[in-house]
Amino acid sequence: MNTRPTGKVSYDNQGRVVVVTGGSSGIGHSICQQFSNSGATVYCFDVQRPVLDPEGDRDNSIRFISTDVGEEDQCRDSVEKVFREEGGIDVLVNNAVIQPVDSYVPVDQLDGDLWTKMLKVNVSGYTFMAKHVIPKMKFQGSGVVVNMASAQAHRSAREVPAYGPAKAANLLQAKQWAIEYARYGIRVVSISPGAIDTPLVRASLNLQGGEAELANRHPLGRLGTPLEIASAVLWISSVSASFVTAEDLAVDGGLGGYAAFAEPYE
Ligand SMILES: NC(=O)c1ccc[n+]([C@@H]2O[C@H](COP(=O)([O-])OP(=O)(O)OC[C@H]3O[C@@H](n4cnc5c(N)ncnc54)[C@H](O)[C@@H]3O)[C@@H](O)[C@H]2O)c1
Repeated sequence: MNTRPTGKVSYDNQGRVVVVTGGSSGIGHSICQQFSNSGATVYCFDVQRPVLDPEGDRDNSIRFISTDVGEEDQCRDSVEKVFREEGGIDVLVNNAVIQPVDSYVPVDQLDGDLWTKMLKVNVSGYTFMAKHVIPKMKFQGSGVVVNMASAQAHRSAREVPAYGPAKAANLLQAKQWAIEYARYGIRVVSISPGAIDTPLVRASLNLQGGEAELANRHPLGRLGTPLEIASAVLWISSVSASFVTAEDLAVDGGLGGYAAFAEPYE
């Protein structure tokens, strides 16, 4: 029996227009693929082009628009381009992130410019995208915004003085927008992954005690896969989740279930 999804996630997204930020790599790329596989028209806003996956049968259909989400005018222009081409946007997935290896330091050693740069992409980027997409959703009277947060939005760790607080902001951005725009038929939610096997995590494995150590911190004893996060995004943005808003969904292999004084998981 399969214990995790491996192929396509079955949802019908025919006719839906989806924008995914940071869709060229890792979790965002899997989200783009799964939406595309299920029939959506998918736009990837990123600063780098996606590396095409030979097994991603609809990878070529993902439309790339070069966008630095930390720059509001670029978010506005890219959203307008999608709106001109498609006449609407049904789903926005705020997912783009930076976490450079030199940000893994205690706060007293954190470079001030790096702090500003990380908040610009990881927090302001989410707000700028919402600011320009939500008016389109209000006009339609429907839409779903999914903010990719993190297990680190809820509890903290050493050496994440910029990343952790930025992820916590993503939670409250989602809740605030959800309350504000529910009356327009717009749902806003967040997802909090545990450690997922992506280039971001691979780049910092040696700072986190190695793969086995990181995996064993999760009760399920392994890292998650990008597809497991994409599966959650497809469900939560589907009509099956039509009464879910202002809520966060943990997809973390049980990480969030620990009691404060529990023994490390073995
Ligand atoms: N990988 C994990 O373990 C993990 C855990 C919890 C939460 N998350 C969250 O999931 C999301 C995706 O993480 P990932 O691991 O797939 O990261 P990743 O580094 O693999 O991909 C991030 C993408 O964002 C893009 N990006 C960076 N700066 C950008 C900018 N200014 N404008 C537009 N795009 C930009 C990158 O080019 C890249 O394609 C992030 O929000 C991250 O915080 C990841």
